[in-house]
Amino acid sequence: MSIKVLTRNMHVPNLRNIGVYESLGGYRALRKALSEYKPAEIIEIVKRSGLRGRGGAGFPTGMKWGFVPKDSGKPVYLCVNADESEPGTFKDRIIIEKDPHQLIEGTIISAYALGCHQAFIYIRGEFIHGAGVLNQAIEEAYSRGYLGRRILGSGYNLDLLVHRGAGAYICGEETALLESLEGKRGHPRLKPPFPAVIGLYQCPTIINNVETIANVPHIVLHGPDWYAAIGTERNTGTRLFAVSGHVRRPGVYEFPMGITLRELIFEHCGGMRDGHQLKAVVPGGSSVPVLSADQVDVKLDFDSVAKAGSMLGSAGVIVMDDSTCMVKAITRVTKFYAEESCGQCTQCREGTEWMYQILRRIEAGQGRDGELEVLLDICKSMKALTICPLSDAAAMPVESYIQKFYDEFEAHIRQRRCVVNGR
Ligand SMILES: Cc1cc2nc3c(=O)[nH]c(=O)nc-3n(C[C@H](O)[C@H](O)[C@H](O)COP(=O)(O)O)c2cc1C
Ligand code: SF4
Repeated sequence: MSIKVLTRNMHVPNLRNIGVYESLGGYRALRKALSEYKPAEIIEIVKRSGLRGRGGAGFPTGMKWGFVPKDSGKPVYLCVNADESEPGTFKDRIIIEKDPHQLIEGTIISAYALGCHQAFIYIRGEFIHGAGVLNQAIEEAYSRGYLGRRILGSGYNLDLLVHRGAGAYICGEETALLESLEGKRGHPRLKPPFPAVIGLYQCPTIINNVETIANVPHIVLHGPDWYAAIGTERNTGTRLFAVSGHVRRPGVYEFPMGITLRELIFEHCGGMRDGHQLKAVVPGGSSVPVLSADQVDVKLDFDSVAKAGSMLGSAGVIVMDDSTCMVKAITRVTKFYAEESCGQCTQCREGTEWMYQILRRIEAGQGRDGELEVLLDICKSMKALTICPLSDAAAMPVESYIQKFYDEFEAHIRQRRCVVNGR
């Protein structure tokens, strides 16, 4: 099935213009939401659709919204996570740049459902163009009465603000994002309490990914059953797959969840570059365990990828062919996490740097016997013990690259050379 939901209009010129967006049915879902449903009914609709968060963990969106305490007496905030800094992930960016009103409409409906009157889009600092596109679109939405006071003549008010980050990967982690939004250093907070209860300015706050929120207008307009019929039973809807690496046609592809990795790579992305074979795939952004070529029949949905020992995560699919040195690849990835660790937790701050130093030596042919075991030991001590999951996100790939490509690592140590590139 080749149904498109989020990208269905992206071929239309000038889609960023509000008039063009409206001419394609844009903001009809908002009208419907405000005129036909009470906020609690929208939460119920989103629950029934089965929508799961697209930011990484796949947490059910309607359930998360249901955690906001009723009548706490405090304002409720919605923060759209547009930080998109995970290496290999570039799917939120196309929504922001090509169809910003889809995201804004989703934000307004979601905010209405949550009883929120001030929403934020926290956007990665490097997305200078995207921030400009969003600000222009928000201005248009205000001028048409979709934002501001008494939206579309209802009693509902909402303001929406774009906040630019300053270039730290950790600010994509939801509580670091909140700290950053409050003007502080982007350090993750200890949980619980979860942001739905105590979030921005100590008030109930929902943080959702761009792609998650962009699905909401479609769910409201076409109904939860329509949405739930796309994809697989516990993994409904489509997914934006950002495919990079050694395929002939890299790019962002939208398919129902449950498409296989084989179909994605070989039917839609044109297969591997001339004369090369598939060697490995990272299915969900650089922080998830790598899959080997013989796992290419895995279905791309949260549960199937987890069963195969990895994670669908951000659906940033990084494809590597047989010219790839896996030692070099993971050394590069680990350098990123060592640089981006915020430093609060010892295991993460020291562990990422130790791993990088050892991997760097092994890659350069200066590794020592026993160092693979040391690396695996460091990985073990970095997992599930820290304030946020960045430590796990750095350890899991290292563990999986070593386990799946042990011989390559060993050859770097024993033969002091790379068996792939011969150096
Ligand atoms: C280190 C780190 C970086 C993250 N970066 C992002 C990001 O750039 N965008 C995003 O949506 N979620 C990111 N997340 C996940 C968020 O913490 C959060 O779970 C997500 O925004 C929730 O949205 P969802 O429920 O719609 O998936 C990151 C998590 C971690 C631990
Ligand atoms: S796990 Fe790493 S990034 Fe997360 S809070 Fe601890 S030190 Fe910071």
